[in-house]
Amino acid sequence: MAELLFHVGKLRKNLDTVQAFAKARNLDLLLVTKVIQSRPDLLTLINHSALSRIADLHAVNLARLPQAVTERVHLRPKVSNALETARHCDRVFLSDTRVAEALGQARESLSLPALRVSVMVEAGDLRDGVPWDDLPTVVKHLASLKGIAVEGLGANLGCLSGIIPTSESMERCAAGLRRVRKLSGVQLPGLSVGGTVYWENLRQGFPTEFTEFRLGEAAFFGFNTSKGVPIMELDEGVFTLDLEVLEVWKKTVGEIAPGEVGLNAFGQRMHSTLTGLRQRAVLDGGENLAPMSALRPMDAKSFLVGQTHEYTVLDCTDAAVPAVGGRLSFQAGYEAVARSFLSPFLQLRVIEQETI
Ligand SMILES: Cc1ncc(COP(=O)(O)O)c(C=O)c1O
Repeated sequence: MAELLFHVGKLRKNLDTVQAFAKARNLDLLLVTKVIQSRPDLLTLINHSALSRIADLHAVNLARLPQAVTERVHLRPKVSNALETARHCDRVFLSDTRVAEALGQARESLSLPALRVSVMVEAGDLRDGVPWDDLPTVVKHLASLKGIAVEGLGANLGCLSGIIPTSESMERCAAGLRRVRKLSGVQLPGLSVGGTVYWENLRQGFPTEFTEFRLGEAAFFGFNTSKGVPIMELDEGVFTLDLEVLEVWKKTVGEIAPGEVGLNAFGQRMHSTLTGLRQRAVLDGGENLAPMSALRPMDAKSFLVGQTHEYTVLDCTDAAVPAVGGRLSFQAGYEAVARSFLSPFLQLRVIEQETI
């Protein structure tokens, strides 16, 4: 069975760093822990003060957070789970008035204090967010609703379109906030930005209107996917995935097999630039568990050549012959860990002390 190794000490160090980064810039840090399903056993085990404010996209995850979490933030509440969200969350990000109405009503029905709301704006990524022109009316309407308290705006970049912030776009956001305040007459004390894509920009300076930094990938992976670069001061090795070796053979590659060549299991046409006799290891666990784009062999002399849903194939011609029944290690990126956490065919092992 595949094993995901969670190097918890490395995560704690990353949390120290991201916490200090936010503090030095007078930003509140909001950790997005959905990649590990915000698992209460793991959050308790990590035991770090950066985890006192948690954001997730699933009410079920937020409902079971440990006591030590003092602020539970829902990033994508829905009409269909308004009651659960209203019951278990302190604050939400939303971009639709019907969702806000449902949450306000649910909160009132539970006789709980008004739910704190940050309104997500469309800052250019074209995922969720209210267009700037519609925002003053939306904010005014939300401020009139019972059961919710509008406390700010949120901007999100990087996710759908890979849009990277610039000093101009950050200034446009700040100016937009000031304009919405003026036109809606609502206070709106804060502007929350995220995710990791903002790291470099925030390092260099940002408008005083920014009050919060939401991030997940930086802390768990030390990587900025939108730019395709590691984050210098963070550790990329918080997770490693070990896959069991099922077979090792020298196989002839690059020769056209007799018969028609069609598409592979994912409907793609495969091309190989390699030819000749290559040593290939077949590993247990494929795309369903962890896509190869998010796996990097720890042995730099090997490289991944392909995957099916359940298998991964490694070229290890220049490496030592792997032992069948043993495991090979890969540094695991966001997508690999996110999928692994959803797989029943995986064992999670927490590494408290690094041996090297
Ligand atoms: C609204 C929002 N903010 C912040 C984040 C964190 O982004 P990242 O993992 O790039 O730091 C996410 C990720 O899902 C998100 O949806």
